[in-house]
This record gives sequence, structure tokens and C-alpha cells, in this order.
Amino acid sequence: MSVNALYTDLSGYYDLMCVDIDYQTQSNAICRLHQLFGNDGTTHLDLACGTGPHVRHFIDAGYISSGLDINQPMLDIAATRCPEAHFSLQDMSHFEVSEPLDLITCFLYSIHYTDGIEKLKACITSARRALTTGGVFYFNAVDKEKIDNGLFVKHTAKQADEEFTFHSGWHYSGQGEKQSLRLSIEKASTDATQIWNDEHPMVAVSFMELTALLTPYFEVHVFEHNYETITPWDNVSGNAIFVCVKR
Ligand SMILES: C[S@@+](CC[C@H](N)C(=O)[O-])C[C@H]1O[C@@H](n2cnc3c(N)ncnc32)[C@H](O)[C@@H]1O
Repeated sequence: MSVNALYTDLSGYYDLMCVDIDYQTQSNAICRLHQLFGNDGTTHLDLACGTGPHVRHFIDAGYISSGLDINQPMLDIAATRCPEAHFSLQDMSHFEVSEPLDLITCFLYSIHYTDGIEKLKACITSARRALTTGGVFYFNAVDKEKIDNGLFVKHTAKQADEEFTFHSGWHYSGQGEKQSLRLSIEKASTDATQIWNDEHPMVAVSFMELTALLTPYFEVHVFEHNYETITPWDNVSGNAIFVCVKR
């Protein structure tokens, strides 16, 4: 299974895979951070928007939202969920917008899909170019130096008479600018079990390196990876929320 297979052939299962994610709380937290750090504007773009759950919440909160993704089947589901929004098929490493934006978001560690430092830099440059002065670029990230290859997240979900088990975990060799997201999906019905295993190539970066890439263009604020409490990063955790205000 390739990256495209999960987000194309299996796009119909994506929302089931994410059923435990609290999209409302995540979106509320970023709206709040945008109120605190942003410029009062309401134009918003979600990078790697997938099936559009965050776009839905931002529209409901009063934003004029749009979404971008590299896989059309994900965008087709997003367009059904958010008929008022504009969605475009683009690579977040080099994206263009038709007018300056007040807020750009990238949830669920998707910024790591820029699968090397050069593409990550290009994404940061594109975001800076697309934002108004004082606009905010939010994303969440994992520090390559804190990845524990033994940790996996597992959850199960039922749809009709089928049971799904999803596993996902980071893998980093300890060297270089590539890490991967290892995923497995098991679909069990009364007569058969199907298993898909996949490894997605992603950029590996330390928070120190990431901050150095951002600071020429943005004032960078880092928070603990907890959308309910929003507390400053403790300089230790390997997962964090980045709120970057365009200079
Ligand atoms: C883990 S999903 C996250 C989707 C959504 N943000 C969410 O929180 O549910 C990652 C998304 O990134 C998209 N993606 C992967 N590489 C991309 C790229 N280079 N540019 C834009 N989207 C990309 C995939 O198609 C997929 O929809």
C-alpha cells in the first residue's frame, strides 16, 4: 500500500480511522490562539485538509475557510462535508493562493508529509508568502530526537458487520532528515480478514532545527501538545503545537 493508496483507495475509511480524534477541541484551541496572536482576520486555509473536518469547524466558527490536499478522493469527501468551501488539489510544499490569508493551519502532524528539509523549507516559504502581515501559521510537529520507535497508537472501530483495527507509530533511524509513519489497517468480517501495512516517508526534524527555519520569517510560539489546556512548551516534550506569526 502506498501513501496514495491510503488517501485514495482507502479514503472511504479515513474518517473511521480518525473517529477518536476530537476535531472540535483542536479547532477551538487554534481559533483561540488565533484570537490571541492573530490580526482579527477570518480568511483561512487548511493544508493537507484530508476529508475536511477542521474546515467544517472553522466555517462554523465564522471563518471563510478553504482546504488544500494532494489527494482528490480526500477532497471529494471534504467538498461534500463543506459545500461552502473552496478546495484545491495542490502540494503543500509549493502552494499558491488567490488572495492573502489571515490563518493557515496544518493538523495531525501533516506538515511532516513534506518529506525532506528542502520541501519543508518550501512549505514554510509558501505559507509566509500566502499570509497577510500578522497572519498566523499553525501546525503540530514531532521532534525526531524524541521519537520512540516502540510506541504505537491502536484503536478499533465498527462499521456495519466489519471490525477495523488501526495501528500507527513513528519510526526514526536516529540519523538524517527522513522518518516514517508506519500504519496498519485490519478489516475483519465474519468470513475474511484483510490487512494493509504501509510506511509513509516524512521529514525528520528537531524542534531546534524547526525553530531555526521559522524564525527568519515568523515570531514563533511553542505550546504543549494539549489542545484543552494550551500551556507553554516545557522544552522537553517531543510533541508540540507551533503558532507562528508572520513578521
Ligand atoms: C493524516 S491525514 C490528515 C488529514 C486532516 N488534516 C486531518 O486532520 O484529518 C494527511 C493528509 O495529508 C495529505 N497529504 C500528504 N502529502 C501531502 C502534500 N505533499 N501536500 C498536500 N497534502 C498532502 C494526504 O492526502 C492526507 O489527506
